[in-house]
Amino acid sequence: PWNVFDKLRAEAPVHWSEEPAPNHGFWSLTRYHDIVSVLRDTETFSSERGTVNLEELDDEQIEARKSMLETDGVRHRALRRLMQGEFTPRAVAGYETFLRGLTASTLDAAFANPEFEFVDQVAADFPIRVLAKMLDVPDTDIYKLIDWGNRMIGNDDPEHADVLASSAESEEFRLLPFRSPAAREVFEYGNDLANQRRGKDGNDLVSRLVNQTPMDGQELSERDFNSYFLLLVVAGNETTRHTITHSMNYLMDNPDQMALLQEKPELIPWAVEEFLRMASPVYHFRRTATKDTEINGQAIKEGQKVVTWFAAGNRDPEIFDNPYQMDVTRNPNEHMAFGRGGPHMCLGNSLARLEIRIMFENLLPRISGMTKLSEPDRLRSNFVNGIKRLPVRVELAK
Ligand code: HEM
Repeated sequence: PWNVFDKLRAEAPVHWSEEPAPNHGFWSLTRYHDIVSVLRDTETFSSERGTVNLEELDDEQIEARKSMLETDGVRHRALRRLMQGEFTPRAVAGYETFLRGLTASTLDAAFANPEFEFVDQVAADFPIRVLAKMLDVPDTDIYKLIDWGNRMIGNDDPEHADVLASSAESEEFRLLPFRSPAAREVFEYGNDLANQRRGKDGNDLVSRLVNQTPMDGQELSERDFNSYFLLLVVAGNETTRHTITHSMNYLMDNPDQMALLQEKPELIPWAVEEFLRMASPVYHFRRTATKDTEINGQAIKEGQKVVTWFAAGNRDPEIFDNPYQMDVTRNPNEHMAFGRGGPHMCLGNSLARLEIRIMFENLLPRISGMTKLSEPDRLRSNFVNGIKRLPVRVELAK
């Protein structure tokens, strides 16, 4: 997509794409500053009418799907506050020892053969295992969680055919997130956990969610719990996995950068920011204009959708010198992989950063080189910048 983003940013930074129903068209923003101003102005650019899909949602769909990501104002703050304490830098630092152990065992298994598939062997299980720990669910359920994520997020890719087959036509799935039957399975799974843990003082995220009274002294409704649980399962899974895979891919394309990090591991925290900028695993979210307004001189009408292309903002040459150049020492690096500045800024950003840092702090000293056996097999999606497979050959350090 990069050449399209570059052209739009230079020639039509606020660009209308006319589309047939159910999308009915949307504005594309590709300049960093325009994106930031929309993310900050939640009164004019609301999240309530959907953020993930470009599809026009009717009122019933909106009511059924609402998650933290798709609310504004007081309600958004109340929902976000519920889990805020679990994701602060200090709270996630508590997982560091666990993450180091998990990384070591993941890499031991992957490096048992010199040739292996990086996504499957290294990147795919890692974020979901962290989440399984936070939710306190057994390791045996991990593959279900991965599969659900794949089927919901990868719903434009022909490999995840159940969604394609059902989503377009089926009335049955109209009210489910991503119109996916996988969402219903996630709800059932989450509800079972909630029922087991309600009224008990467990320390996991599910227990904390069901035993708090966020909304005017009321417990979370089943719908709110479902949306919350689904968001936790989906938001941190594919995104972190694809960042780790892209990062490895970029390092193989830039051996000088890999060598620099091996020589100076203290640069890894900086590298993580550059990995996130380059990878931009979430291509976009969207907002809806609540009134007639304008962006950068372009009139926007009430009800029109505005798409914030984070991936395009992350390569805006006004902000980033040589934006296509990977530079693990880039400073400042105020990328928008997690959004930037608005109230919806990624809740899990400290956890994601920690996971990526620990992965590369462990991985880089163990290898003297890694090469691709073929170019990455990309996920077909306009939402997630994903890699499905990356076969590699590793040379272990002596
Ligand atoms: C929101 C990206 C990992 C949980 C977001 C947003 C982006 C994003 C772009 C929306 C920002 C906005 O609209 O302003 C990413 C990326 C990740 C990642 C690139 C990994 C590299 C995680 C993890 C979790 C998580 C690990 C938690 C387990 C959330 C939640 C929201 C969110 C709950 C909604 C926040 C709100 O609406 O207030 N993320 N995310 N994310 N993310 Fe992440």
